Amino acid sequence: DKKGYSLIIKSDSIIISSKSQKGTLHGLQSLFQLIALNEGLNQNFSLPCIEIDDSNFFQHRGFLLDCCRHFFDVNTIKKYIDLLSIYKMNVFHWHLTEDQGWRIEIEKYPLLNSVGSWRNDSLEKYGGYYTKEQIKEVVKYAKKRHIDIIPEIELPGHAQAAIASYPNLSCNQKYVDVANDWGVFKEIYCAGNDSVFIFIEDILNEVIELFPSNLIHIGGDEAPKFRWKNCPKCQNRIKTEGLKDEHELQSYFIERVANILAKKNKTIIGWDEILESEIKTDAIIQSWRGFEGGIKAVKSGKKAIMSPTSNAYFDYKISTTDLEKVYDFNPIPKGLTPKEQNLIIGGECNLWSERILN
Ligand code: ACM
Ligand code: ZN
Repeated sequence: DKKGYSLIIKSDSIIISSKSQKGTLHGLQSLFQLIALNEGLNQNFSLPCIEIDDSNFFQHRGFLLDCCRHFFDVNTIKKYIDLLSIYKMNVFHWHLTEDQGWRIEIEKYPLLNSVGSWRNDSLEKYGGYYTKEQIKEVVKYAKKRHIDIIPEIELPGHAQAAIASYPNLSCNQKYVDVANDWGVFKEIYCAGNDSVFIFIEDILNEVIELFPSNLIHIGGDEAPKFRWKNCPKCQNRIKTEGLKDEHELQSYFIERVANILAKKNKTIIGWDEILESEIKTDAIIQSWRGFEGGIKAVKSGKKAIMSPTSNAYFDYKISTTDLEKVYDFNPIPKGLTPKEQNLIIGGECNLWSERILN
């Protein structure tokens, strides 16, 4: 909702007015930010006489936190949500599954948590996961701060922790460990095996019970096609579905999951790789490899969220993504028609945690 607030500071009064509780909260946050401009703040501070009329321009103002490469406890998640609230963000994109760890409790497949949530690093067994009770608590906490949580369940790649738990999900169905280093791994879900899609639907059924958001992020990035090229079941799928190659098989995979979710009134968000070939079902594209994926999406009538590595990757070195670049970030690139511009629903900054231990 676009309802904003006004903040009027006069020499003898401060008035925040708004038609919504969200607006009032955002007005207070602006006031606190003005107070914080006072250097060496103790008892005495001053405020400028000022009149601000403010409301959000973008419907999606997101931050991602990767809780898989490293695991963060619920108190840390709440702290992160508090920070988002200070900056008037409204989406917490919770990255919950990865090669290095499965971080959400799933009752139907307990090995995801007893096996998939843990890895053996050089010193110890490392990991953890959020219980359903904890997730409900965090969702409630975020809602009070006018922040929606969009969970991300990665597929078909970045799924080695799931495959370590249930090896039959992969093409060659061999045991692998939960990954203990960083990168892109060739073990991905088999696209030729229908029981993989049953597994995914079961998982998503438990996920959507926890998250009221009508958007579910299904990943879709960095899925090497090596296993699919050498898998009889995947090759058979390509043939029977009349697909051209493994890139079209990736779109088949995404589309099939999008349709499962559409039946439950959920729309998918996917990283820009899901446009490797055409997706007919409704989908929102999160553009991370520059702005191009998002531009391609809006030109084909799909909505886009901009998260280009050039401006929005907070795990990159400060020399690559400095404060000025972040503040300069405009999710709407030049050269789009007004209609295309409207399809860009906002921006998102990503905090991947390979190098963030705590
Ligand atoms: C990504 O950074 N692989 C979405
Ligand atoms: Zn396969």
